[in-house]
Amino acid sequence: MRTNRILVSACLAAVLAGCTPKDETEKKIDELLGKMTLHEKVGQMNQLSGGAWLVESAAKGEVGSILNCVDPAEINAVQRAAVEESRLGIPILVSRDVIHGFRTMFPIPLGQAATFDPALVEEGARVAAREAVSSGVRWTFSPMLDIARDPRWGRVAEGSGEDPYLDVQMGAALVRGYQSEGLAACAKHFVGYGAAEGGRDYNSTGLTERALRNTYFPAFQAAVDAGAMTLMTSFNDNDGIPSTGNRWLLKDILRDEWGFDGMVVTDWNSSGEMVAHGFASDLKHATELSVNAGVDMDMMSYGFIGFIEELVAEGKIKESQIDEAVRNILRVKFRLGLFDNPYVDENGVVAYDEAALAAAKQTALESAILLKNDGVLPLKAGRTILVTGPLADAPYEQLGTWAFDGQPEHTVTPLAALRETFNVIYEPGLAYSRDKRTDGIARARSAAARAEAIVVVVGEEAILSGEAHSLSSLDLQGAQSDLIAAMKATGKPVVVVVMAGRPLTIERDLANCGAMLYCFHPGTMGGPALADHLSGAAVPSGKSPMTFLRTAGQAPMYYNHNNTGRPNTGTETLLDDIEIAAGQTSLGCTSYYLDSGYGPLFPFGYGLSYTTFEYKNIQLSATTFGKDDTIRVEYDLSNTGAFDATEVAQLYIRDLVGSVTRPVKELKRFERVFLKAGETRHCSFDLPVADLAFWNADMQYTVEPGAFQLWVAGNAADGEALNFNVE
Ligand code: NOJ
Repeated sequence: MRTNRILVSACLAAVLAGCTPKDETEKKIDELLGKMTLHEKVGQMNQLSGGAWLVESAAKGEVGSILNCVDPAEINAVQRAAVEESRLGIPILVSRDVIHGFRTMFPIPLGQAATFDPALVEEGARVAAREAVSSGVRWTFSPMLDIARDPRWGRVAEGSGEDPYLDVQMGAALVRGYQSEGLAACAKHFVGYGAAEGGRDYNSTGLTERALRNTYFPAFQAAVDAGAMTLMTSFNDNDGIPSTGNRWLLKDILRDEWGFDGMVVTDWNSSGEMVAHGFASDLKHATELSVNAGVDMDMMSYGFIGFIEELVAEGKIKESQIDEAVRNILRVKFRLGLFDNPYVDENGVVAYDEAALAAAKQTALESAILLKNDGVLPLKAGRTILVTGPLADAPYEQLGTWAFDGQPEHTVTPLAALRETFNVIYEPGLAYSRDKRTDGIARARSAAARAEAIVVVVGEEAILSGEAHSLSSLDLQGAQSDLIAAMKATGKPVVVVVMAGRPLTIERDLANCGAMLYCFHPGTMGGPALADHLSGAAVPSGKSPMTFLRTAGQAPMYYNHNNTGRPNTGTETLLDDIEIAAGQTSLGCTSYYLDSGYGPLFPFGYGLSYTTFEYKNIQLSATTFGKDDTIRVEYDLSNTGAFDATEVAQLYIRDLVGSVTRPVKELKRFERVFLKAGETRHCSFDLPVADLAFWNADMQYTVEPGAFQLWVAGNAADGEALNFNVE
């Protein structure tokens, strides 16, 4: 006790004397900076892709970070050159896209978001970090925090979907998980990249400052608050300004408002691409704009290493700006302990250990979303089933996008896992997801005669989602829908499993099956997780982090939209009901599509279980609250079916009248509740009124007094509203 008190007083004294460990680091940074030539400073700001071939640049101090090398021996070789041969011995920061696992692949981030289980996601990040760090990687380009409301955009796979609150929770969990194991996180892509027009990757965005602040910034700010060491600029130009050259974003918001003291890296050549944007006249000009906007490190445009010295000599960039950038870079290297411990133990590589596989399986289990079940699931173990479909035994494809280091030979496919529990007849039907040939379908049809039930595993090959893989049609590719229809025609019970990188338009396929389990690419342990679900050893609990559309033409459609002045009523005339030669009038017209109805196929937060849940006695602690109050929401949740299972209870609010229009619903809290069959639990949420704040008409972050509604339900479309007021 006494020692503790002495320690506390010693620390306090140190703080008061301005001698915190933070200051120690700053002192070291200043000392080092004082010894650096401009050329060496610029070298730190240069990130290059590769391994052994960069030894020479490292020895000359001309590279501060490398990406895409995961061979510990090569990493050590480059590191040795930097630490032992370069004049100042500054270690290299080794980076990699560790997006949903390193060797052990977890479900893609969209699938991880479907768990609504930040603690599990954090554990997954720790596993990924342990494996990556053991191979010498100390910086990952994750989490991707881009709000994604258009499933045509292939990169919806890489983030947490359409909701800012879920994004905040998942992003912060990933940052904590990575960094607790010595892997620096990178919050990306700053900012607005997911709002690419038409869902076409790299496309321009037109987000207002208020939209940025209310919807696109929160997860970045939360990542900064969680201590994210780095941040990446995005490729897009928003309102005409490419992020990599956006001083307001990188200085006013990030540094001045949020107090970020980490490092900002460009995306791959996003500095150079400002020339194609028409924002910079050439690479030199692009470099000037990037550095002056507040970028610290250049990923692969070669502009920083090529032009900064000239630009400083010409007075176009101040050397103080370069010092600031280098400080930010060195700070990350000090924080990671690279100066003390730059090398990786070449014999210490960790991969696929029991704990990693268990966490990956648990995440795959919790991420699967049951979209339909007419009673066919679960299937009785030991039954004879036909397993068909191009994703049933595709170890590489089920890993999904950004699985550079995941090895297919370690993947357990649905086919392999189902064979452990069922008597399996296998007939793939189609060779790959885009396969249009129908001869295999005929073979699957005849094989079905010998089976009691059919499991069709369809979806997207890994390469159909992720970066640069946008689609304008979201139907199942190739002849997959025909395969499902052919299975339905056999009259046998049909279970469809979808493994994809995005929510596809599966309305037609739903009609052709008795049950559908939707798994965003589930990773290494996708097979065993699926087998547990199909046999009833586990019960699905995943909830969709994105709205499922009926047709791609509905995109972007998301639950937390504004109401419009003419919201649909659900009673509008649809295409086929319009009279021939009907007169044109706008009276009574509302906001909907003539041909695809009013709403989505499934709302945000949707997911069934093998059991049923009932929400009862939902009550608020008062009907009027002050701005400093906390709203206590109590409710009883009952498991009214026959399976022990978990429900994700969700709390939504609506601010009915604002100085700017507010979304029709906003997720504010969620909780996973495990209940035994027949059990009822009294549950509660605490929601501080302060959490109802938003950026209002005066661009102030505030809670506006007035009337609100609140729901507690199992998805964004269910539940009865309760009313309350804020004074
Ligand atoms: C481009 C991608 O946009 C980004 O997300 C990724 O981290 C970098 N390339 C590095 O691979």
